[in-house]
Amino acid sequence: MDTVSRSTKNAARAKKHLFAAQATYYEDAITLVSGEGTHVRDADGNDYLDAFGGIATNTLGYGNTEVAQAIAEQASKLMHVSTLYLTDEQLDFAETVARIAPDGMSKSFVSNSGSEANETAALIARTAKNSADFMALEHAYHGRTVYTVAMAGLSNWRNFGPDMPHVAFVPNPYCYRCPLQLSYPSCEMACAKSAKRVIETQTNGAPAAMIAETISGVAGMIAPPPEYFSVLRETLKPFGTLLIADEVQTGWGRLGDGMFGMVSTYGVVPDIITSAKGLGSGMPIGITITRPELADAFKGPHINTFGGNPLSTRAARVTIEMIEKKHLIANAKRQGEALLAGLRDLQKQYAIMGDVRGRGLMIGVELVKDPITKAHAPEAANRILEEMRKRGVLLGKGGRFGNVLRIQPPLIFSEDDVRVFLAAFSESLRVL
Ligand SMILES: Cc1ncc(COP(=O)(O)O)c(C=O)c1O
Repeated sequence: MDTVSRSTKNAARAKKHLFAAQATYYEDAITLVSGEGTHVRDADGNDYLDAFGGIATNTLGYGNTEVAQAIAEQASKLMHVSTLYLTDEQLDFAETVARIAPDGMSKSFVSNSGSEANETAALIARTAKNSADFMALEHAYHGRTVYTVAMAGLSNWRNFGPDMPHVAFVPNPYCYRCPLQLSYPSCEMACAKSAKRVIETQTNGAPAAMIAETISGVAGMIAPPPEYFSVLRETLKPFGTLLIADEVQTGWGRLGDGMFGMVSTYGVVPDIITSAKGLGSGMPIGITITRPELADAFKGPHINTFGGNPLSTRAARVTIEMIEKKHLIANAKRQGEALLAGLRDLQKQYAIMGDVRGRGLMIGVELVKDPITKAHAPEAANRILEEMRKRGVLLGKGGRFGNVLRIQPPLIFSEDDVRVFLAAFSESLRVL
């Protein structure tokens, strides 16, 4: 009898034919074959509760019938035309986005990924402002194209080489490890205000835009204080610098207050919103949304072969409809609060849980070797991932030093799922 698992066999196949740079989780990478709801199955028949959702992407969970049916129907009718032609699917989708976007943000350009959405935003901003200077946050992650790699404020993701486009960096509102050695709230948002110093010392004095994730996800769910974005917006205003909200992870209800985190959770309407991930429930799609005067200041030419294709835009429209119909934003808030409460209870017992943070279903647990020195504990993060796997639960990992656990499940995560997750997490901490 063959005793080698399918997952182990596939790890060997991957080693032979996939790029070594394609990082996979776990000592023995998992091969996934099917899923239903919040659960996913591997090639060896193991079942997992998925608290990472394909990196915060499977909004409606696995095997959602409405999305699957819409895609199947669309695939047999019209699958691809390119942006050179119009389709009702793309226009219906653009109208839906305009309905839910903040007032005045009525135009969008559809691409295939978050990286492309951010590239498009940068093109628009640089053209509209006639300025080549650009700003981002330390600890930021915006994608894997050259310009978005240049926007990365995480040195491990800045792996292109020395000749990247220039981007000026503003300190991140990372209160647990304040880059300015201050404390909230007596800091009076000094990190946001320091954007002025960065503009004056590192740019042409009128940068086109500053891009910011609403919550820095890859960096480990760094969630700014409530007033952060309004102070940042005011700081950028005198310089005419646009604010781009990267809502790739935080969009479509994940933060539990509304469709877009910066708007609903932080009360700030940016100039441009970019998103991807959860929008298509797994179908590749990216979007750049803005006001007509900014969108149309970019004269192009611009094209995207697969952008706005009927399959992705149809899946995205169904996803938005289902988020609304099933009240998934309220669910994200409810289950997120239950998760945070459960994790904070555990934090009282386990000093290794240095910080528990996040909003809605976007939660991070930063692991430290010692709560006083806050020394990063990446080995513990790896061990928790493995222990959770043994207990049938998947979750993610992030942070500049790989010591932050990431919990970003599908928005259909239930009360039962929260209970199962917390029980497995508690046991994993105990055996650590
Ligand atoms: C905040 C943020 N922006 C942009 C991207 C890039 O998206 P994609 O991988 O779809 O290109 C990511 C991906 O993780 C992200 O987290």
